[in-house]
Amino acid sequence: MTLISCRLECNFVSPESSKKKRKKRYVPHEAAARFKPTKDWTREEASSEFEKAKFSFPVDVINFEDCMAGMKSVPDESIDAVIADPPFGISFSGKEALYNRNDSFVIDGYQEVEGDYEEFTKAWISEIPRILKKSGSAWIFSGWTNLRPVLSAVEDAGLKLVNHIIWKYQFGVFTKKKFVTSHYHLLFLVKNLKQYFFNKIEHYPQDIWEINRTYKKGEKKNGTKLPTELVMRCIDFATKPGDLVLDPFMGNATTAVASKGSYRHFTGFEINESMREIINHNLSLLDIGELYVPYTERKDELVEKARAKFK
Ligand SMILES: C[S@@+](CC[C@H](N)C(=O)[O-])C[C@H]1O[C@@H](n2cnc3c(N)ncnc32)[C@H](O)[C@@H]1O
Repeated sequence: MTLISCRLECNFVSPESSKKKRKKRYVPHEAAARFKPTKDWTREEASSEFEKAKFSFPVDVINFEDCMAGMKSVPDESIDAVIADPPFGISFSGKEALYNRNDSFVIDGYQEVEGDYEEFTKAWISEIPRILKKSGSAWIFSGWTNLRPVLSAVEDAGLKLVNHIIWKYQFGVFTKKKFVTSHYHLLFLVKNLKQYFFNKIEHYPQDIWEINRTYKKGEKKNGTKLPTELVMRCIDFATKPGDLVLDPFMGNATTAVASKGSYRHFTGFEINESMREIINHNLSLLDIGELYVPYTERKDELVEKARAKFK
């Protein structure tokens, strides 16, 4: 037998044996029609998990201090998810004219990074593996201009990249001689690839998330507020009710609001004292669990279409 014919023969699998190997026949739409979230909780169960959770340090408070110092006092392996949207490192104040917004509603004192952005990035990211539980994950936002230092710091810290998500928003800053940036990067990182928690709450969750930036008329904020829906997606996939979420750069407290609203506890830091009033106001606007909808009750278009087709 020549080498070529041997290769052909060795690779040949008879239809009979292939049928035997494949245990189940592929039926279009079947998997989608039968989809169930990995884990789900009724509102009562989620509320009870929230109440039951115990911590050895104060939670559901935001500490007004530098996260570099603050994170050092967080106990080892105490955090289920870190959600971090660090300052951009591009001398941004949030009041730039080209952002075309009404300055009087934008709060002063957004703290940019003073000094070397790479060193800063390395310092705060290196603290994450120590504070994360083995099942924990970290979600780090980054613009494309600073992605390189963030990726290097993540690698140095030994965090494992599971997904590189693109957040696509509706519009960006007008440009004359280049494309308008209308996306952000979101890194989904874990401490342990074998043990991380992931609640698959959708049948086919893709890594491009189209979520509009939100603007409320007359709302006071610092100019970098993430949509609550975006942060809730990280929380929903990566944590359980009663879990603890840490945000080192709270800004307008979006992570705290999303956590409180979905029966998760929160902790974190904000260096800018002038955000205190806004943060307290934002947190006072909602009750614990107000945003929580059990996953099986959520609309999943793909699943619904599949159920209509699949008999
Ligand atoms: C990009 S914004 C976060 C916005 C937030 N995700 C939101 O939705 O409102 C970054 C925030 O980090 C704060 N900050 C900058 N350096 C800090 C530090 N070393 N420790 C804690 N907060 C810091 C800034 O004042 C700013 O509010």
